[in-house]
Amino acid sequence: MDDEKILIRNASQVVTCSGFEAKKGAAMSDVGVIEDGAVAVSGGLITHVGPTEEVMKQIDASEYLEVDASGRALLPGFVDSHTHFVFGGYREEEFSWRMKGDSYMSIMERGGGIVNTMNATRQASYDDLFGDAYDRLDTMMDMGVTTVEGKSGYGLDLATELIQLRIMKELNDEHPLDVVSTFLGAHAIPPEFAGRTDAYVDYIIEEVLPHIREEHSVTFCDVFCEQGVFSIEQSERLLNAARTHRFKLKLHADEIVSFGGAELAARLKAVSADHLLHISDNGIKRLARSGTIATLLPLTAFSLNEPYAPGRQMIDAGCAVALASDLNPGSCFSCSIPLLFALACIQMKLSPEEALTALTINGAAALGRAKKIGSIDVGKKADMILLKFPSYKFLPYHVGMNLVDTVIKDGVLYIV
Ligand code: NIG
Ligand code: FE
Repeated sequence: MDDEKILIRNASQVVTCSGFEAKKGAAMSDVGVIEDGAVAVSGGLITHVGPTEEVMKQIDASEYLEVDASGRALLPGFVDSHTHFVFGGYREEEFSWRMKGDSYMSIMERGGGIVNTMNATRQASYDDLFGDAYDRLDTMMDMGVTTVEGKSGYGLDLATELIQLRIMKELNDEHPLDVVSTFLGAHAIPPEFAGRTDAYVDYIIEEVLPHIREEHSVTFCDVFCEQGVFSIEQSERLLNAARTHRFKLKLHADEIVSFGGAELAARLKAVSADHLLHISDNGIKRLARSGTIATLLPLTAFSLNEPYAPGRQMIDAGCAVALASDLNPGSCFSCSIPLLFALACIQMKLSPEEALTALTINGAAALGRAKKIGSIDVGKKADMILLKFPSYKFLPYHVGMNLVDTVIKDGVLYIV
């Protein structure tokens, strides 16, 4: 028997989410269910998908390690396409203040928030940052995540931004999960540039950006475009410079106030615009007409006790919606896929099919990887999960409970 060959058979459902690009609007409802399905894997890639009876005819089962998946549903691994998982320290005091009515932005204006984590990250040892980030990846994987994006943005100087990015590159090599890195130098204004936001943008463009992409396999550049942080003009200037260094673009857009971030992301042909709690009607129209994915982060709205992004309205308007956790030490200390799934369905009114598409193929597209991951299609990476239950419909129904039984990452089985 070849160790690298695995046959998962008699799954009550194989939910393929089949596709090689983002699904928009009504197409998000099409998840592709095969009853009593099987998937064959060889060398870490998917080679056969179909009803068990048919797959068994196409292969020599004696060459395979067989997994009997009766009573369990097989899904693509989840893609968490927006997180900030490498950081030092915690901000539990700020959370308590917020519970008493303080706001995220007023804490930031008083010198807390992201700059608080910047201080802790600058002071932390490499090994501590690495170890904590490794543990967070373990937690994500237990909940069925097989690819995760991570952002820098807690260094806010060249040296510390590079440390965060180096940690993500090493984790991509050392941890089973795939890690996609994003440079978020424009996350906040560090104290040494207080009151001089334009000078900080110049510093990033001239002294930081040229050193990032090649050295550390960084794919994306992102900006926290928000009133009182980086303006539309500053964000555009920075992202245009990033494009000349061959970064793909992302944007934290319309998170706290309606600011025109979605429109900017569409105009710059960004891969995704993220958050969008306060997106305007015009912003929704612009995203729907563009190739830019609307990445929604309901765990953040929940943690900040803010209104949810209008996910239902966006899908009805024809947008491609992705869902992600936004795990970070401030606005959302959670990477809980089960809770995220429930909030997307119960609060944002996505159907279970739409939420599943948003967390798989559309998440993959938000990372520019829809041709390689995000669905159970022949030729894609064997990144899949087996649920403890027979249908994907249990995901929002068993509210906030982890239903993942086994994670299959690059064709290797991990029992949760
Ligand atoms: O996506 N809003 C900007 N960035 C993060 C929060 C970061 C933090 O508070 O540490 C977010 O919500
Ligand atoms: Fe974020």
